[in-house]
Amino acid sequence: MAAGAGLLVAGAADRKAAGAPVAAPRRVPLGGAIQAEYFDADPAYRQAFLDHCDLIMPMNELKFDQIRPTRDAWNFEPADRLVEFALENGRQSRGTCHVWWNAMPPWVEAIDDPAEAEAALVEHVERVTDRYRGKLAGWDVVNEVIAHDPQQEGPLRRTGWLRKLGPRHIPIAFAAAARADPAARLVINDYDLEFVGPRFDARRDVMLSIVRQLQDGGVAVHGVGMQGHLYADRQVDGPGLERFNRELDALGVGLLVTELDIIDWHGPAEPQAQDATAYRLVSDLLDALFAWKPPEAVIVWGISDRYSWIPAVLPRPDGAPQRPLPLDGDMVPKDWMRLLDERLRQGR
Ligand code: XIL
Repeated sequence: MAAGAGLLVAGAADRKAAGAPVAAPRRVPLGGAIQAEYFDADPAYRQAFLDHCDLIMPMNELKFDQIRPTRDAWNFEPADRLVEFALENGRQSRGTCHVWWNAMPPWVEAIDDPAEAEAALVEHVERVTDRYRGKLAGWDVVNEVIAHDPQQEGPLRRTGWLRKLGPRHIPIAFAAAARADPAARLVINDYDLEFVGPRFDARRDVMLSIVRQLQDGGVAVHGVGMQGHLYADRQVDGPGLERFNRELDALGVGLLVTELDIIDWHGPAEPQAQDATAYRLVSDLLDALFAWKPPEAVIVWGISDRYSWIPAVLPRPDGAPQRPLPLDGDMVPKDWMRLLDERLRQGR
């Protein structure tokens, strides 16, 4: 993916009019994942992406079950609208995701014959990638294929695609994407790659071995996406991430953060305390990433606490509101948004 140079500086015109200095463009693009339902309903939400993001990508609208809910129904409209919004405003966009265990439509789930499953996968990846050729800078081709705990379960997550096709569904998907858009940055994306502990070490090792196996098989993979769902009660593994970045770099593979947000379920409920924890985690993550070389992009999973998947999926036991994203519910930037902005501008 191209660096931020040449992109519009978000909000620069407004700041200039107000007499404030105009910031330099960001060396590393700052992205945000946007959702069609709030895009339509909430102008302040839409504006927040324009104010803060160099890259704007659909959060859910390109997932398999959204694009092709039944065998006969292709549903491109919501994704088209979001991608057009990004491009019309001079921003980049990228796609997520072709293969994800949690976005399998029932009609695919029901396929048992391996040849039929492979044909459905290839048709999907080729058709969707081709449709957005020249518009999306890259794709998360596969998402969450690593076992939650490889020490217990073996390397790969037991998914529908693994059951139908075995591990070869991974190179099949990457090869199809490369055929359909040879210029796209093709990414393998996963969670829990960031922290201190043997489970996270094991997950980084599996990621490296998948990348090596793809390359050994002559299949292109350009980047590893670290989701970056940062848990308040975990520690970012600075040396581990620096090593990971260095090893990927030696393979010619980049690193990016694809779904940054904060999961703080057991910490103090006060907003200041939650935001201080978030700041520390994001700061640690950026230190770890920049220690070897800058990430290709940092993308936040949403933009404002007004809308996030976290309270629904990982609610706090005390019922207190969560503050997962860089803008608060009133679209006011938190300190960690300023930190992100500054460091991605500096590129270090
Ligand atoms: C989540 C979205 O945020 C929700 O809106 C949707 O209902 C389900 O998916 N890891 C991923 C993302 O890779 O695609 C998930 O996004 C969050 C966890």
